[in-house]
Amino acid sequence: MKKIVVVFFVLMLLAFAWSGTGQAGGWAVITLHELPQDVHAGEPVTVRFSVRQHGKHPMEGLETTIRASNGNRSLSVRGAESNQTGVYTATLTFPTAGEWAWSISAFTMDVPMPAITVGAPRTAFERLLASWRNAWGRHIPAAYAQDAPSSAAEGKRIFLAKGCWTCHHHAQVAGSFSTNNGPDLTTFAKDAEFLHAWLRNAEQLTKSRQEWWMPTLELSDNEIDALYLFLRADQ
Ligand code: HEC
Repeated sequence: MKKIVVVFFVLMLLAFAWSGTGQAGGWAVITLHELPQDVHAGEPVTVRFSVRQHGKHPMEGLETTIRASNGNRSLSVRGAESNQTGVYTATLTFPTAGEWAWSISAFTMDVPMPAITVGAPRTAFERLLASWRNAWGRHIPAAYAQDAPSSAAEGKRIFLAKGCWTCHHHAQVAGSFSTNNGPDLTTFAKDAEFLHAWLRNAEQLTKSRQEWWMPTLELSDNEIDALYLFLRADQ
């Protein structure tokens, strides 16, 4: 008899745990606004991200935590709400150079983000040079500006960082949790114009069609170019 009671409680616990993940309604899409660039040890870097319940509703008042680790070093930082609903920010200072794994947790999710390569600490003079370069860069006509070239590898990082994988399965993204609300994108075969038009306006294009619509996420043209290279990489 005791055994039956134990089994019953274990089943109840499992049912409870299951309802907290995915299907029963407790999921959210976490979208990083920009992948951190040019990160150096000892210099604070601010990340911004959105949390949308079911990919639809911006969620306010959440406790959010960013955790990062590199070997046996780790850090953990609380996110803060910004003045935009559902948008949070957090400032991280990586103590050492190297490849840092990190994740954002919010609501029921703990979402791994693409690793950040942290460079060696810079001298004050190196920082000054970099800030001049940035300021100068803004005065260079767009046609001559040297934007980092898009690549399929960058596109895969963006697919993770923006939360596409929450709704779309893709065979190249190992172990992805997907609600499969959107179509499998492994064999996506449409052209770049389609992808730009779609991603710029996904919400309006899909909202009226069905229960699950796709949010318009925070994406730059460069990011969409990289996503295109990733989605069409093996064709
Ligand atoms: C909240 C869920 C959700 C998220 C997050 C999401 N999508 Fe979608 N996506 C959908 C749904 C649902 C559809 C199908 C809409 C329809 O056909 O009406 C779709 C359709 C698409 C299509 C059209 C496919 C085709 O061939 O017609 C592309 C491309 C796409 N999504 C790419 C992306 C990318 C890239 C991201 C990340 C930047 C992303 N999606 C994030 C739900 C999502």
